[in-house]
Amino acid sequence: MFQVAIDGPAGAGKSTIAKKVAREMGFIYADTGAMYRAMALSCLRCGIDKGDEQAVTEHCNTLTVSLNYENGEQQVLLNGENVNAFIRTEEVGNTTSAISVYRGVREKLLDLQRKLAGDYNVVMDGRDIGTNVLTGAQVKVYLTASVETRAKRRYDELMARGEKGSMEDIERDIRERDERDMNREIAPLKQAEDACYLDSSDMTIDEVTEKIKSLMREAGWK
Ligand code: DC
Repeated sequence: MFQVAIDGPAGAGKSTIAKKVAREMGFIYADTGAMYRAMALSCLRCGIDKGDEQAVTEHCNTLTVSLNYENGEQQVLLNGENVNAFIRTEEVGNTTSAISVYRGVREKLLDLQRKLAGDYNVVMDGRDIGTNVLTGAQVKVYLTASVETRAKRRYDELMARGEKGSMEDIERDIRERDERDMNREIAPLKQAEDACYLDSSDMTIDEVTEKIKSLMREAGWK
């Protein structure tokens, strides 16, 4: 199977790009952040303290996270319920970053992610795909952008969905999330040695997509 691993910080454009590359190349798109988000959503719904590692891990071990594809779109199922509509809030995002530092939480999803990539040609995005989940991926990309650019993108996304939020709050959240995702003990966000570094601050979606497609061709994909 051919594997494309895209890692990078929050708001770098990973999901937009990964989805587009997958669609254009006939691959499936696996959004690993959404899997972590589903578990965070369940913790929030059940009132589990995100700072309590044991409680979070025990709770997550009772959950079933699975994926379904509808018209090529990934749907995350939490105990069989499609939770796609509930996992994109800032609250869920921040809780996700907090609980994804725990070993038990990460191990829970590792098998699912590797199995998916063993069964299908996949574009998988996250924080530790090139460094940990799919270390043998044929193409690895570290996609980033300046904090200001990423905050602006998140802000525009929220506004487009009719949600509230201020640029200051979003920028602060992004800095906090970067700090936690990059400095955690287990599988922190960092560029894999063999990953191509792409800063999308001044690149269009099409330019980034074309660059990744050219990396795929260089790596032998027809
Ligand atoms: O990509 P995202 O914003 O949906 O990810 C939400 C959080 O999930 C992110 O802050 C850290 C965590 N995450 C992770 O630890 N490992 C991954 N492979 C994907 C996401």
